[in-house]
Amino acid sequence: MLDKIRNDVRVLMGNDDNGHGFEHVERVFKIAVKIAEEKRANVEIVALAALLHDADDYKFVGAENAAKLANARRIMTENHVEENKMSQVCEIILTMGYSKFLQGIRPQTLEGQIVSDADMLDALGAVSVVRTVMYTVTHGSRKLFDRNMFPENNLTKEKYTAKGRDRDSAVNHFFDKLLKLKYILFTPEARREADIRHRFMVDFLREFFREQDCFDWIDYLEEYEKKEQKTA
Ligand code: ADP
Ligand code: NI
Repeated sequence: MLDKIRNDVRVLMGNDDNGHGFEHVERVFKIAVKIAEEKRANVEIVALAALLHDADDYKFVGAENAAKLANARRIMTENHVEENKMSQVCEIILTMGYSKFLQGIRPQTLEGQIVSDADMLDALGAVSVVRTVMYTVTHGSRKLFDRNMFPENNLTKEKYTAKGRDRDSAVNHFFDKLLKLKYILFTPEARREADIRHRFMVDFLREFFREQDCFDWIDYLEEYEKKEQKTA
């Protein structure tokens, strides 16, 4: 059944070129199942939620459709997933994601926390650099970096999801979101991996700024890091 569902998700997302398509889903699936096995969580629920978690992404189907989870429900129904499993999976999908986090919504079960952690891990590290650039080019501002445009601090959910944010540079997305993620993970397994990936992103940004003599940005980065560590 999982193989069939994976294939249905690939058909649904396959042609997406925004760094958010099926490759992302496969990576999240792999990390989530690994953590679930280590923690002896319900692997089937974790696997289903990981495969289906972006099938109704608000950025692509709109907020109203996203809340209905029409794609995820259709795929599970067509593959005869039992009603009680389906509702556990939907509950997880509806409580994960950074914009949900900004609204104070958190996954309540271990399975939900694992899938949420896996999704956020895939927004960190070398993978994140590539995904963010892909997103910026295909759906965002097409601007990698503007040395005169410093990030706004601590965006609210409204500001974070406002369409205008897509005018932000790729580099600013690291400060808006990516450099905050390691502090909001649930499982120690994911936190350990997040530390490594976080360090890589900071090194990447420091070098990116150094190559362009943007020493004010290096200072900004160091200050930002100190502040985030303190408030974590
Ligand atoms: P996820 O599926 O990991 O929750 P998102 O749906 O938030 O991720 O975004 C998909 C990818 O696109 C992520 O890797 C993220 O870093 C990147 N991204 C999202 N929003 C922006 C933005 N405004 N500018 C640049 N990159 C973005
Ligand atoms: Ni995702």
